[in-house]
Amino acid sequence: MAFKDYSLLDPRIPLWEGWPHVLQTQQFSRPTLDILFAYTDRLLEARARGEDDPLRALGAGKFLVTLFYQPSSRTVCSFLRAARELGMDVLDVRDPARLSSEVKGESFEDAIRTYAGGVEHGFRLADILVVRHPSADAVFQAARASPVPVINAGNGPDQHPTQSLVDLYAIRKELGRLDHLHLVVVGDLKNGRTARSLAYLLGKNYQGIRFTFVSHAELRMREDVRAFLDRHGVPYRECHAYGDGAESVLRSADGVYLLRTQTEWGPERLRALAPELRHLRFTQERRRELPPGAKVFHPLPINCADPDLSEVDSELAAAARTLTAGQRDDQLAWFRQMDYGIPVRIALLAAHLRDFWNRS
Ligand code: NCD
Repeated sequence: MAFKDYSLLDPRIPLWEGWPHVLQTQQFSRPTLDILFAYTDRLLEARARGEDDPLRALGAGKFLVTLFYQPSSRTVCSFLRAARELGMDVLDVRDPARLSSEVKGESFEDAIRTYAGGVEHGFRLADILVVRHPSADAVFQAARASPVPVINAGNGPDQHPTQSLVDLYAIRKELGRLDHLHLVVVGDLKNGRTARSLAYLLGKNYQGIRFTFVSHAELRMREDVRAFLDRHGVPYRECHAYGDGAESVLRSADGVYLLRTQTEWGPERLRALAPELRHLRFTQERRRELPPGAKVFHPLPINCADPDLSEVDSELAAAARTLTAGQRDDQLAWFRQMDYGIPVRIALLAAHLRDFWNRS
């Protein structure tokens, strides 16, 4: 099927609630996810055949601005690369709280009006704005102040919707399905925005999903996600250890989703928990408890710098990064998961480019 025939390019199809902004994963419905993922499949197939991307010109003359108030490696770079793949120009604004006029007291709203502005005289700066901010409210404020689409690239400890699109696509590729899954989610579930977004997205849209949340009691999944899962009839169990005195929860897992302890949200307290967190570290022994075919996911980064808090054994971290042909670790999926970041974000940006600007 040629790209131009593909339904993603049909502007009559409504794509998600709250269009054109992407602020939280509850906005996505299953038909939209199917479209985005089928489109990502097409991109990967075309690339595997060595074909040029027929949508290379879709973003010509358009500008993507990334506005990141918190550190980032994968998210920002994959957005920038995805935009370039579509022929967009890019502007990477990093650390604006330190390097922009906000140092001079400018409000966040005025900053957004600046980056998303230029509309008065036809010379727009951003056509799409990607925002990461330590405050949970900031992306909502940005969406209210912005005349162009705002994409949430992480709003405090709340959500990270585009990471969840990447995670879901990776789970689908690695496990071959998104329905009927038992996912064991381990780590700082209170502050881990990727796990929170993923729970909303899977819980809302797929059948037969079952979660086991493994965390320290102080870092359990927050009430909003638990209430949402209850409302959608999604069963979950909370444990403070892999075994909790009984058989390891890993024995029935289809996937494990690991998370870093998010020390940026209360470093002293979280550091003090280190001795109690050690038994949650994912090790060689743990992986042996998994059934055949189960995969281990991680949004990355893995904390390798802090041996007391590291959530993954260093041996496993090294095994996962092996690139040598024939030595690929099939069970540790996190770098393959990461590598879907660019094509999934191309699909998302293409959705914006094909619809919003055709209408406005
Ligand atoms: C995550 C984030 O920033 O929330 N990283 C990412 O974007 N892949 C996860 C994390 O920092 O732990």
